[in-house]
Amino acid sequence: MNDFTFQSPTKFVFGRGAHREAGRLAAELGAKKVLVLYGGGSAVQNGTLPAVLQSLDAAGLDYLSAGGVQPNPGSSFVYSAIEGAREEGVDMLLAVGGGSVIDTAKAVALGVPYPGDFLDFYRGRPVEEALPVGVVLTIPAAGSEGSPNSVITDEERRIKKGAKGEALRPKFAVLDPELTFTLSKYQSACGISDMMAHIFERYFTKTPENAVTDRLCEGLLLAIKDVAMRVIIDSEDYEAQAALMWAGMLAHNDLCGVGREQDWGSHALAHQISALYDSAHGAALAVIFPAWLKYVYTEDIDRFVRFAQNVWGISPGGDKEQTALAGIAKYEEFLRGIGMPTRLSQLDVPEEGIPQLTELAFALGNTTIGNFKRLTPADVEAVYRLAL
Ligand code: NZQ
Ligand code: ZN
Repeated sequence: MNDFTFQSPTKFVFGRGAHREAGRLAAELGAKKVLVLYGGGSAVQNGTLPAVLQSLDAAGLDYLSAGGVQPNPGSSFVYSAIEGAREEGVDMLLAVGGGSVIDTAKAVALGVPYPGDFLDFYRGRPVEEALPVGVVLTIPAAGSEGSPNSVITDEERRIKKGAKGEALRPKFAVLDPELTFTLSKYQSACGISDMMAHIFERYFTKTPENAVTDRLCEGLLLAIKDVAMRVIIDSEDYEAQAALMWAGMLAHNDLCGVGREQDWGSHALAHQISALYDSAHGAALAVIFPAWLKYVYTEDIDRFVRFAQNVWGISPGGDKEQTALAGIAKYEEFLRGIGMPTRLSQLDVPEEGIPQLTELAFALGNTTIGNFKRLTPADVEAVYRLAL
């Protein structure tokens, strides 16, 4: 096990009606003027946003709100929100939505106190300071409600990249499973694909002897698998949605990643698909992850045998290679079962697009991607081709 520091100071308030606590939680932070961000309208239509604004009123807080954050959120919205927030003297961000809204709120929180271009933080500048961010989560997926990350697309260069820093962890996150009842099957499935991917990025490591984290990863994957079909069949299955909402947070606040080298290559490849073809993040991962697993399994066959047996129920004792491949096949079958694409063509990505995807994945001057196997441009192209 490697040495590590783990701090996860976000306050989580979980349960039915919890979103009505947002105003009280913001007031507890000492906020005076809150900028509330939301997405394309689901939070207005299902009543979440009005209830949250009412709670801000009840807490005596001044606020303004701005909607229109798109999935795979872009830099232009962030620039204009930073300008507006500065003019209005905003001292806190409240995100009402999923990863896209939360990440946009984090980007604005970074940009307001910073005199330069906020995208500097998405090109490697260390994160030091940000306004406080609160979250009312509406979709279990990205885990941004508990993570120190934000992912934004530079719309000019069409590159999707992350910024990372402890200042970006939300101060509080309200997790009310009832808010997810209006999710479509497709969005739920995207969320499931994403949270599983967050565990895989940490599970596939070459750091030896990390028993606790390995078991946490496997347990969480099994719990997600157990309830996944229930929300696809019935989005109003409270207990299944509650399990996923908590799993999505645990999958990405790094509890499942401490003490080991992590990979993150598949996310880098999936981000470029989203940046160029506007695919949902979880769908892009459902296409890339099986291909990546097939490309790298020979790096550590025993880890893949373990994955196949402990997560996908493949019987022990068979040929190692066949067992490893059977585990990957089960995962792919699971993705198809919840309605996810597993091929680039299903995302309308043509074979001719692969060179550009590869080039942009290396656009910031990196020479390899990922850690479990350090992928060169030729490897990245090969992974994309395996996903055709
Ligand atoms: O925009 P609205 O109308 O709200 O609709 C959204 C959107 O179309 C809809 N939705 C959300 N809650 C709903 C709902 N529809 C009905 N009822 C509800 N309760 O779902 C759609 C997707 O929303 P989005 O926020 O894009 O989903 P998600 O949470 O999957 O976030 C994806 C983004 O997060 C980034 C991804 O790259 C992507 O840009 N990620 C952020 C991470 C982080 N900050 O730590 C880590 C992840 O790996 C990921 O990269
Ligand atoms: Zn993700």
